[in-house]
Amino acid sequence: MESQKNYKSFWNDKASTVQGALIAVDGSTNEEVARLTGAHSGRQVAIALDLQPGDRVLELGCGVGRIGREIAPRIAHWEGCDISANMLAVARERLAAFPNVGLTELHRASLQPLPDASFDKAYCIAVFIHMDKEDMYLYLEDMARVLKPGGLVFFDTWNISSKVGWQRYALEIEQYRNADHAARKDVARNQFSSPEEVRLYLDHAGFDVLFLAAESPWVQAVAVRRGEGVDVEALRARAQAAAADIAYSPTWTGLFSGVLDVASGRRAPADLWQARFAEPGGDEETIMFRAWFREMWNHNASAWGPAPT
Ligand SMILES: C[S@@+](CC[C@H](N)C(=O)[O-])C[C@H]1O[C@@H](n2cnc3c(N)ncnc32)[C@H](O)[C@@H]1O
Repeated sequence: MESQKNYKSFWNDKASTVQGALIAVDGSTNEEVARLTGAHSGRQVAIALDLQPGDRVLELGCGVGRIGREIAPRIAHWEGCDISANMLAVARERLAAFPNVGLTELHRASLQPLPDASFDKAYCIAVFIHMDKEDMYLYLEDMARVLKPGGLVFFDTWNISSKVGWQRYALEIEQYRNADHAARKDVARNQFSSPEEVRLYLDHAGFDVLFLAAESPWVQAVAVRRGEGVDVEALRARAQAAAADIAYSPTWTGLFSGVLDVASGRRAPADLWQARFAEPGGDEETIMFRAWFREMWNHNASAWGPAPT
């Protein structure tokens, strides 16, 4: 398709309406669900980066500001960058109440509009999964440039080495089994990495790895920009002590695996609902997933039938 030839047109198309933008960032079909999932991701980011009130923080691929909306109130400055002007327009509306927010449109795999050593922390969630590895690497190099020495970075990518990561990859493979090889693949299709690969990219881009979570379908990396006098061991000890609050839990992974079974047609949505969500309440992740899955069901009601109330 002509419109899918580059990242910018792909994501601008997805974000041509507010609901389209919300769905494209994490499958949230409305503001209420985006707030719930944003709070969950925001907590992971805050802990991984040890956010402090004086911090200047960069988000690469900020989308609608799903996460920025949750962390902007607790830091000095939040800068959201994105390739899509339409995504940024939604973020501008959603974050209008916060005076400490900046938004920057990007045009290639570069943070060129931003000065060297101008941020304390940076993060990038559910973005590298949608780009070529060369572009992920170029962005990592530039994140090292805009971070101060000793600055922390947190990001994720699909984990091909985990059981549920492979389950997600299998969904992707099926789309291409009988594909027309005369046509180029969608530029923003899902991409997968191993933890070892992520370690290599970080090392070459100028970071020391502090913590890599790799048990869930995500590789999640916390790293520090190298610099003189940076106490890597102390930073590593802090990040590793916070591991359980940064990594996706076994509960999250199990719920996600159930959703993949539904998405691949191997399990009826009602069966997953009955097994995991019919009983009210539960832990924070179950409550979040229940709301997310119910709204996804509402969105697919023409195929799945009416969603539970
Ligand atoms: C799945 S969304 C995630 C948004 C946000 N990080 C979140 O978790 O809510 C991916 C975002 O990355 C942006 N993006 C995709 N490719 C990009 C690129 N090459 N450079 C910068 N941003 C990109 C998209 O426009 C979109 O807003």
